[in-house]
Amino acid sequence: MKITGSTRLAGIMGWPVAHSRSPLLHGFWLSEAGIDGAYVPLPVRPEGIAQALRALPVLGFRGCNLTVPHKQSALASVDRIEPLARRIGAVNTIVVAPDGTLEASNTDIFGFCQHLQEAAPQWRPSAGPAVILGAGGSARAVVAALTDMGVGELRIVNRTLSRSELLASELSTSASRITIHPWGEVDRVQQDAGLLVNTTSLGMTGEPPLVVELSLPLTAPVVDIVYVPLETELLAAARRRGNPIVDGLGMLLHQGRPGFEAWFGAPVRVTPELRAAMIATLAPHR
Ligand code: ATR
Repeated sequence: MKITGSTRLAGIMGWPVAHSRSPLLHGFWLSEAGIDGAYVPLPVRPEGIAQALRALPVLGFRGCNLTVPHKQSALASVDRIEPLARRIGAVNTIVVAPDGTLEASNTDIFGFCQHLQEAAPQWRPSAGPAVILGAGGSARAVVAALTDMGVGELRIVNRTLSRSELLASELSTSASRITIHPWGEVDRVQQDAGLLVNTTSLGMTGEPPLVVELSLPLTAPVVDIVYVPLETELLAAARRRGNPIVDGLGMLLHQGRPGFEAWFGAPVRVTPELRAAMIATLAPHR
């Protein structure tokens, strides 16, 4: 990479930020497209987020991504928030407009929809109720994505019921009914499901296993947003019984596209080469 006087700048703000794979992702696309641009990690303490965001136009940055712990707190320091991102209360992409104002969106929703449609093209929102495991920040993005796609019924299964209640009250719409269920009902609620999505951290390397006996119809895709390991126990079990499977890496890669295209002005794709390059960086977690 060569930095010149006219290099376009973007980055990711987080605390900590060193674990983020976004610099690798955007670096791959920049070199593939031969763009004079740089995407850098920006370690920003929680109390510094407002100042850091307002510094973007001053420093000539085109924008940035946001990761933990800034996804919610940044809402207070931007000028415009895309409606879906406002509904779920979290943003991950900032674009500096030509007049220096800040536009915020949540591209996790876009990433989830794109990857699901690509990895399970036969799935339709009308296929039946969607079962979502978890009620945290990732679950909110997945629920917003599925309601936006037109899924009529969503069943939230989570350890902490109060969190599911809050999610259901904030995200249900007239077209999408959200019901909440304790873990004990995970077998029963999937029997007529059209889709199952794990949004919890269970099954991730270093976390407790996700123990679920799959009983959903064999046509229903099983999605895991965990991507370390790439094939989780849940996905391995789904593959063995014949369900279509959708891994978590594709969502991560697709969520980067809207930001890249806005900052660097070139369309990008999620290719097998990109997936292979990213998978190689997951190896240290084994
Ligand atoms: P994220 O933003 O990645 O979704 P989060 O908001 O911390 O992270 O949410 C983590 C999810 O994993 C939650 O649904 C959490 O359940 P609780 O709401 O009950 O905390 C779930 N989770 C994490 N560890 C769990 C465990 N050991 N057993 C059951 N659920 C767990």
